[in-house]
Amino acid sequence: MTPFSKKRNLCAAALLGIAAALAAGPQTVKPGEVWPDDRGQHVQAHGGGIIRLGDTYYWFGEDRSQGLDPARRYVACYSSKDLAHWTFRNQIMKQADPGDLGARFVLERPKVFYNAKTRKYIMYMHIDDARYALARVGVAVSDTVDGDYKFLRSFRPLGQESRDIGQFIDDDGAAYLIFEDRPAKGFHIARLSDDYLDVEKDVCLIHAPLEGGAVVHYKGLYYAVGSALTGWNPNPNKYATAERLEGPWSEFKDIAPPETRTYGSQSTMLLKVVGSKTTAVIFMGDVWKPRTQWDSRYLWMPVEIGDGKLWLPEPREWTLDVATGEAR
Ligand code: GAL
Repeated sequence: MTPFSKKRNLCAAALLGIAAALAAGPQTVKPGEVWPDDRGQHVQAHGGGIIRLGDTYYWFGEDRSQGLDPARRYVACYSSKDLAHWTFRNQIMKQADPGDLGARFVLERPKVFYNAKTRKYIMYMHIDDARYALARVGVAVSDTVDGDYKFLRSFRPLGQESRDIGQFIDDDGAAYLIFEDRPAKGFHIARLSDDYLDVEKDVCLIHAPLEGGAVVHYKGLYYAVGSALTGWNPNPNKYATAERLEGPWSEFKDIAPPETRTYGSQSTMLLKVVGSKTTAVIFMGDVWKPRTQWDSRYLWMPVEIGDGKLWLPEPREWTLDVATGEAR
C-alpha cells in the first residue's frame, strides 16, 4: 500500500466511524442554542416543518440568512437521520414577488408534503403582502425533496383568510393543512386534495384565536397546540384534545407555566418519533429574534404527553434516540 492510499483508507475509516456515530444511539439536542449544520452555519429553517422519508428526516423552513437578496424570500432544506445533526441540502426556493405584492411581500412557515401517488413534493407556505392583509397560501412543487421548487399559485384556502399554517399527517397517511382564520377566530384543519395541490375539505374549525397551529395523534387522542396572536412576541401556548379530528375539542390549557411565555418560544410543529421501544413527541418551537432574524433559535423539547395531558418541561439539554424513540 502506498503511504497515500493508506492515508486515504484511514480517512475513509474515520469518516465511516463518524457516520456510524451520527446514525446510532442517543444524540444531544440543545434547545435555544446555535445549531450548526454540516457547514458550521446556524440552521436556517424557521417556522419550519419536518417530514420523514425512509430513514431520513427532512426539515424545511424560512431561510433568513444575512446578506440574501432583500427582494426575494428563501426556503432551505436540511436532512438528518438522528434529528440532531443536520446537513444542508439546498435553498429550495429563492422566490421573487409572485404577483404584485411588492418587494416587502411575505413568504412564511413553509411546509412540504410528499404525495406518494404523483411522486411529487408539494410545498405550502403563507403568502402575504407587507401588511399581512392578503392572507393566502402559496403552493409550489418539485420532483425531488430538495430540488428547486416551482411556485404554482396562491389562494385563500376554501375561500377563507389564512395566515400561519401548519401541517399534520395522520397515522393513515392523510395530509392536512392547518391554517389560522382571523375573521372566524380560530384555526382550520383541512384535508388536502388527492394530488395535494388544493385544500379540499374543512375537517374542523377549532374556535380559539390561536396561530402556529400544530397537531399530533398520540395513543388514541388528537392534541392541538397553538400560540396567541402576539406577532413575534412569545405568549403562553395552549393545547386542547379531541378523540376525532372533527372534534369536539376540549377547552385550551397552558402547555407550560404561563409566566414563562412558552420559555420564549412559539409553536410550529409537534413531531412524533415512533421507535422500537417507545414514542416521543417533540414540541418544535421558534425563539424569534425579530431584529436579527437569522439568529432566531429553535426550542425543541420532548413533551410529557398522555391521558389528555400535554406539558412542555423547562428547556435543558436532552438526548434523543430515533431508533428506540427514547427521549431523556
Ligand atoms: C407571528 C407569526 C409569524 C410571523 C409574525 C410576524 O404571529 O407566527 O409566522 O408571521 O407573526 O409578525
